[in-house]
Amino acid sequence: MHLVAASEEQMVQRDALTYSEWGKFLSLEEYAAREKRLRAHPWSRSAMRTWLLCGEDGAVLASCETFRTPSFLRIPGGSLVPGDSFAIASVFTEERLRGQGYATRLMDLLAAELERQPRAHAALLFSDVGPRLYARSGYQELPAWDWHLSPTPGDPAGPVDSLLREDELATALAHLRHPEVPFFFWPTPAQLDWHLERGRIYAGHLGCSRPTSAGARAGTSTILWGLVGRSPELTVLMLDARSASETWALLEAARHEASRCGLSRVVLWEEPSHATFLELLKGGGITRVARNGSLPMVRPLRPGLPPITPLLPAPRGLWV
Ligand SMILES: CC(C)(COP(=O)(O)OP(=O)(O)OC[C@H]1O[C@@H](n2cnc3c(N)ncnc32)[C@H](O)[C@@H]1OP(=O)(O)O)[C@@H](O)C(=O)NCCC(=O)NCCS
Repeated sequence: MHLVAASEEQMVQRDALTYSEWGKFLSLEEYAAREKRLRAHPWSRSAMRTWLLCGEDGAVLASCETFRTPSFLRIPGGSLVPGDSFAIASVFTEERLRGQGYATRLMDLLAAELERQPRAHAALLFSDVGPRLYARSGYQELPAWDWHLSPTPGDPAGPVDSLLREDELATALAHLRHPEVPFFFWPTPAQLDWHLERGRIYAGHLGCSRPTSAGARAGTSTILWGLVGRSPELTVLMLDARSASETWALLEAARHEASRCGLSRVVLWEEPSHATFLELLKGGGITRVARNGSLPMVRPLRPGLPPITPLLPAPRGLWV
């Protein structure tokens, strides 16, 4: 068995097979069009590859995608060394081929391939099938808690200093504080826009309006959000929360924006840096729940990377 990077034609062939798994709400044609459109997005064009596990006869046994994602290593003295990490998505084995170790083999060969990349730091994935399959290939799970906030009517601009437009995403992202940990992943503006592109595709199917804002600022804190998929939710992509009161203001704005767009709730992935602020806001339509699916898991791709600990943040903006 060996690993190959898929051609455009092979990607289209995989779309027809993965439709049954990831095509919910879409016809086969709409799913194929979605995949084509997402692959044409600037982030995919610069950072995405589709990988095939092939048998000796060339038959495809399993597949997945990787998205190159920036990451940073803090060296003694505090400066940051940039590198490449790889977010893995859409791990797939056709039903008739399952249970024969192909996905495991794919993950092992892929890790060996990624380890050879010159600036490689780590591989990251969001498992929908629990930790066991990926733990076999060296991935360690991170905590996965979500905060659900009910929408509340009101002017989203009311509680905050300013709302952010989509064309301000890059500036706002550059303004966010890096996590105070020895190693972390950090998305690019194009990467965040790729999430919004998914929302642009699904908005018509969901029958809701897309938010006119892409986030908000309150004091020195910033939140970035969007409609990002097939759930009618306002999803927080990044949150740099520096105080409890600013966190409250940003989330109130998010709840108002969700209400304005007819969305069912605000969803925020918990990170160690803002968990304590969120605890203070609990109640009154704000709940903490164990995440269903999308379990973050990380595998170092080079020796000397600091240990993967629960303190490593995995914001929703990194999801693929
Ligand atoms: C998950 C998937 C890729 C596994 O492919 P595979 O080639 O059968 O994988 P392997 O033979 O290497 O390993 C099979 C393991 O995956 C586990 N697995 C498969 N589907 C699972 C699920 N929905 N939940 C939990 N475990 C699951 C099997 O129980 C088995 O575990 P075991 O060997 O410890 O008993 C395949 O079932 C698939 O394509 N599923 C649909 C798409 C999907 O869910 N992809 C994963 C997204 S994170």
